[in-house]
Amino acid sequence: MKKRTLLLLLACSTITVYAQKGKKPQIKIKPRTEFVADLMSKMTLEEKIAQMVQFTADGTITGPKSGTNWVDEIKKGNVGSILNATGVDYTRKIQKMNLDNSRLKIPILFGYDVIHGYKTIFPITLGETASWDLELARKSAEIAAAESAAAGIHWTFAPMVDISRDPRWGRVSEGAGEDTYLGSKMAFARVKGFQGNNLNDLYTVLACTKHFAAYGAAEAGRDYNTVDMSERLLREVYLPPYKATVDAGVGSFMASFNEIAGVPSTGNKWLMNDLLKKEWGFNGFVVTDYTGMNEMIPHGYAKNEQHAGELALKAGIDMDMVGAIYLNDTKKNLQEGKVTMAQIDDACRRVLLAKYDLGLFEDPYRYNEEKREKATIYKKEYLDAALNAANKSMVLLKNSNNVLPLKQSQKVAFVGPLVSDEFNIIGSWAAAGDRNGYAVSVEEGVKHLVKDQSKVSFNKGVEIKDSKRTMMQAALDAAKNADVVVAVMGEFENQSGEAASQVNIDLPGIQKEFLAELKKLGKPVVLVLLNGRPLTLSWENDNMDAILEAWFPGTMGGDAIAQTLYGVNNPSGKLPMTFPRSVGQVPIYYNHKNTGRPYLGTNDPEQKYKSRYTDSENSPLYAFGYGLSYTKFEYSNLKLSSNKLSGSNKITVTVDVKNTGNYDGEEVVQLYVHDVVGSVTRPVKELKGFTKQLIKKGETKTVTFDISADDLRFYNIDMKFVAEPGDFEVFVGGSSDATLKATFELVK
Ligand code: NOJ
Repeated sequence: MKKRTLLLLLACSTITVYAQKGKKPQIKIKPRTEFVADLMSKMTLEEKIAQMVQFTADGTITGPKSGTNWVDEIKKGNVGSILNATGVDYTRKIQKMNLDNSRLKIPILFGYDVIHGYKTIFPITLGETASWDLELARKSAEIAAAESAAAGIHWTFAPMVDISRDPRWGRVSEGAGEDTYLGSKMAFARVKGFQGNNLNDLYTVLACTKHFAAYGAAEAGRDYNTVDMSERLLREVYLPPYKATVDAGVGSFMASFNEIAGVPSTGNKWLMNDLLKKEWGFNGFVVTDYTGMNEMIPHGYAKNEQHAGELALKAGIDMDMVGAIYLNDTKKNLQEGKVTMAQIDDACRRVLLAKYDLGLFEDPYRYNEEKREKATIYKKEYLDAALNAANKSMVLLKNSNNVLPLKQSQKVAFVGPLVSDEFNIIGSWAAAGDRNGYAVSVEEGVKHLVKDQSKVSFNKGVEIKDSKRTMMQAALDAAKNADVVVAVMGEFENQSGEAASQVNIDLPGIQKEFLAELKKLGKPVVLVLLNGRPLTLSWENDNMDAILEAWFPGTMGGDAIAQTLYGVNNPSGKLPMTFPRSVGQVPIYYNHKNTGRPYLGTNDPEQKYKSRYTDSENSPLYAFGYGLSYTKFEYSNLKLSSNKLSGSNKITVTVDVKNTGNYDGEEVVQLYVHDVVGSVTRPVKELKGFTKQLIKKGETKTVTFDISADDLRFYNIDMKFVAEPGDFEVFVGGSSDATLKATFELVK
């Protein structure tokens, strides 16, 4: 019998050993609630508080450090969880140090930001969402879980499900974009991927829904900034993706940094206790974001750390990330009657239950097998899945005169600062991701695909931000000798992500100047973009022949870009976020309200007193849901099975989608609904369904959606979540600009 099992046995008389031939778990323990209750009956106050304490191991720091020596605290038995420690060796060492010093041998929970892959990096979440492929999103989370669980990690701080309508906010790269419906479906799929059907499985990790709540609505797109909105907007637009993760069984939540209507989330009792834990029935635990508890002081909500600890615990925060407040002040708060033992017990129990579910009481080292780590990371099938995800997330924004796909016979000059890049291409928050030497660059991808290497050349021309022009001429010379120019441009990976808000979202540096020089050559110019947020691309749209939005596509990104450029992959991604014409339009989103003075566009006979800009169109450059293909899809025959909907009946919507072009292709068919009159005004359109269909060249597919009264519910004037009888419009098409329309009436 292994020493650690013996220790566990001594510590916990409730454990029974089961000899299973080479199979884990080797021991069977009491049912979860009984086991945890038993354990807690043996724990001292200090030991309970320790379960509520998390520190960061040396590693990524994303905020002010608490100054606490985490190693000393582990040795004192004061730590329940560690973040930023990875690898079986390192986590084993820390776990051993903990178990050697923990009276009751309570294992440490290791958390880490596994956002879009652990080692095999998938496209950034915004890019992956552009696939509109839920199974793909589930699969990428499943692979991220398998790799990280094999590397000693128990808990990922993902999925990030913050809806955002503001591309100035750098963290849009980490989420699913602007839409509640798409965001909720993706959120659900990602939790299922991370957690699987059983957290006890060796290849799953505990997921963490973040950042609760409405972090993506930061005023002016500035990270960590104030949020204020009506409860209706909060419930209708921002909260559903968080709720979807509760429905998917997510095991933990992270509080957001922001305040909502004057109350920081970390101290928001309504949000954490009343809504999340009571109304939604969430049984997992809630962790703060990094020093979020301490930040209630500068917020002007807590007088000092002890007060912050009191507010957080009363609000329903179960674990303190890095802040050291729970460690230092909880006992004092209890002695002074500021918090109750029941509140401490509840927080401790929730954390212990998660540890139980992960099987850590059966074997605290079960995620620490070197052999498994080696065998799991960078598996061929994972790299193939990452390539597939990158291919499916490409969004073709423009393709004049079918300049794409490129032909093998063409001479192509590949230029631009990201043309040979292996560093930025995997994107931000690829915390454990390997960059140089691992990720496939565009140059490598092209070389893998092109038969005659003399047809292609690679020159940077310019840097992303640097304004040096010394490399430009060589790139222009190569372009002069080519049939087509492909410019691979965009942002640094860290221009999006946390603490990366920008007021200017143009292509950075002198990249545009270089594009103008390329255009002067009179050759077709294709712009390939690697970036983490919607950019303002009006000039590029007017001047480039084709534009491919590749996001930060991950480890296999260069292969996916090459395959897409050369037509091995027919792009099928659709934008999960509106691309504005200019930053002055922000916030801009498709499901806006009509106003009392809606502007009908340039043909509107009344131009003056309308809700419009005098110096810009209202419409975006590229709408939510937009994306081209190398083939063409025509929509016709939109039919409803009835134009009356009542009771628990359904209306079936059918539409014919014909592939009229020259390639087989996938199309994301989108269903939008407009509730014409409500007791409160309704958006001009709301996504209510989508399906991604492969339609062969020349083929017509009849696509079907069902609409029931449940799909039409919203928070009415009395804040009741109901569908109101009345007229509805249905739109089906390949973007939120869909004009093919039918109508029905919801009757009582
Ligand atoms: C701060 C970020 O806001 C959060 O998303 C992340 O999970 C934590 N730091 C831990 O790294």
